[in-house]
Amino acid sequence: MQNHPPEPFRIKMIEPIHLIPRAEREAAMKQAGYNLFALSAENVYIDLLTDSGTGAMSQSQWAAMMEGDESYAGARSFYRLKESVRDIFGFEYFVPTHQGRAAENILSAILVKPNCYIPSNMHFDTTDANIRARGGRPTNLVIKEAFDISVHHPFKGNMDIPELRKFIQEVGAKNIPFGCITITNNAGGGQPVSLENIQQVSENYHEFGIPFFIDACRYAENCYFIKQREEQYKSKSILEIAREIFLLADGAFMSAKKDAIVNIGGFLAMRDEDLYQNVCKELILREGFPTYGGLAGRDLDAIAVGLREGLDEEYLSYRINQTAYLAESVKIAGIPVIEPPGGHAIYIDAGGLLPHIPQMDFPGQALSAALYLEGGIRGVEMGSVMFAHPDPDTGEVISPKLELVRLAIPRRVYTQSHLDYVVSILQSIYQKRDALRGYRITYAPELLRHFTARFEPL
Ligand SMILES: Cc1ncc(COP(=O)(O)O)c(C=O)c1O
Repeated sequence: MQNHPPEPFRIKMIEPIHLIPRAEREAAMKQAGYNLFALSAENVYIDLLTDSGTGAMSQSQWAAMMEGDESYAGARSFYRLKESVRDIFGFEYFVPTHQGRAAENILSAILVKPNCYIPSNMHFDTTDANIRARGGRPTNLVIKEAFDISVHHPFKGNMDIPELRKFIQEVGAKNIPFGCITITNNAGGGQPVSLENIQQVSENYHEFGIPFFIDACRYAENCYFIKQREEQYKSKSILEIAREIFLLADGAFMSAKKDAIVNIGGFLAMRDEDLYQNVCKELILREGFPTYGGLAGRDLDAIAVGLREGLDEEYLSYRINQTAYLAESVKIAGIPVIEPPGGHAIYIDAGGLLPHIPQMDFPGQALSAALYLEGGIRGVEMGSVMFAHPDPDTGEVISPKLELVRLAIPRRVYTQSHLDYVVSILQSIYQKRDALRGYRITYAPELLRHFTARFEPL
């Protein structure tokens, strides 16, 4: 097993972590209703719950924060961020938001009408929920290879173009207020989308007059994969690839907590001035004035710098290879993972690892609970707990195709020895996998239930 490239940084400040004893982990889990979201972070040893907002900021970002302009309106910080957004994404209009889902909420509030359809490769859970909350129908049209975990397709996040055309013709373009694509595709393994596919998606949406929005959370990681895997982009810089992608879209929404390497923030950007005016009205109602959008001036400065750092090729090489290292090591331990690994996380096929636990007993929940009980590691279930939902027409519960557990890697936070520890815990779970049991839900809200559901072991 080859080591991943050394971290292109050294550690200047540390945050102590420690592993509480097994009996305390058991008590903590019971108290949390076996939901890892309900654990106290101090009881977690290695936290791979998410890569969102959990990255370590650089000295340049911290320095930029000291220059934050906290004026209510027209702060310098806003203009510095506007310049980064314009330079990288090329959109004329943009508003900051407190995080990605706020941008999704605003876009949905303005454009989603009851029973309209919003296609994407795969919507992430917050996008899906924001569309549903307005009565819309999020529709996932990713290529079928995305559901075969062992197929080595270089761009498993691609949208199925013939399916997209068929879908638009079936439901009618007038019932699609906008179309999306998520880069990389978090709900489907953090898999990248090729630039060729983004071009085709853009052409198809535009042929039918449908505005095209990109969920850009992990656009820099996606650009890195394009450079590695798409011949004609090998000699382009990551920034050039990014510019080429966003030229194809009418707008983008982004949780800056991912590839802008900040702890909070997001934005919504677009070309259309009328839409921008409506966005501002909604923003003022829910987030704040258009030049701060629910953030402090210092947060805007951290994003402005982080957006550029996230495009650094040396950093991206370390990051993507760190994920590949974890995936490869876990695979050697006998654990099935989505292949090839995506950018920000590995996705364990809990359904494949625990075939004796039926889908309705949540194999992903069983594995994520075991990871914590065994080694104080927090991952997240991405299977039926997160994605199963009733069909709006029949009421029948539709389950996702895969029962996954995601181990997301915070940016610039954990070292190779932390990852080796995770592998050793997975090895010991593998030995006792037959003894793992499923879970039953004892409480769950209707939308986004995974955040607050409670469980009981079977
Ligand atoms: C692809 C994708 N879209 C949207 C979001 C929502 O972003 P936020 O958590 O900042 O609201 C996330 C967060 O994980 C995501 O991964």
